[in-house]
Amino acid sequence: MSTAILLGTSRQHGNTHQLINLYLKYRDADVFNLMDYSISVYDYEHNNKEDDFLKLTKQLLKYDHIIFATPVYWYSMSASMKIFFDRLSDLLTIEKKLGKQLRDKSCSVLATGVDSEPPDCFEQPFILTAKYLGMNYENMLYCACNDNFNMNEHLSLLLSFINKSTK
Ligand SMILES: Cc1cc2nc3c(=O)[nH]c(=O)nc-3n(C[C@H](O)[C@H](O)[C@H](O)COP(=O)(O)O)c2cc1C
Repeated sequence: MSTAILLGTSRQHGNTHQLINLYLKYRDADVFNLMDYSISVYDYEHNNKEDDFLKLTKQLLKYDHIIFATPVYWYSMSASMKIFFDRLSDLLTIEKKLGKQLRDKSCSVLATGVDSEPPDCFEQPFILTAKYLGMNYENMLYCACNDNFNMNEHLSLLLSFINKSTK
């Protein structure tokens, strides 16, 4: 089973990126960093359909499993990830054929934050969006990080996350 990791963070090589690096020590995956793409906010008129959203989505659709990797920013997914999620609406309107391809996919979440636990509301948009799009939502790994990402602190949680995954 092939895995794509979609990273949406405002900090290159920050905690979420390092969590991905730890994951990559144990599992193969290709990483797509939203910082490398120019994706604008949802437009009801679809005047932005030539931006990078479709290009990125077509690449992601080549994988069986998509991991959404995001820090917790103000109790939610990062803004770049939210913009990507809003744009998934394009797959229900102007790109329905692509949208249908999501139905065969599974997904999960890698997240970091400073609080010991994420707020209840954090995981809900991932679970509900996956359900709406017909994707199989698996699970979330949340790592509470202080200033620096300490790999040893998160290793056992990561291994348990990997073992629970259907891959
Ligand atoms: C704008 C902003 C908002 C944040 N809001 C939260 C929050 O609501 N809950 C939390 O636990 N941490 C919050 N944090 C801390 C980050 O989630 C934490 O430092 C995370 O590991 C940063 O990941 P990054 O290096 O990929 O950006 C916030 C950080 C920033 C910059």
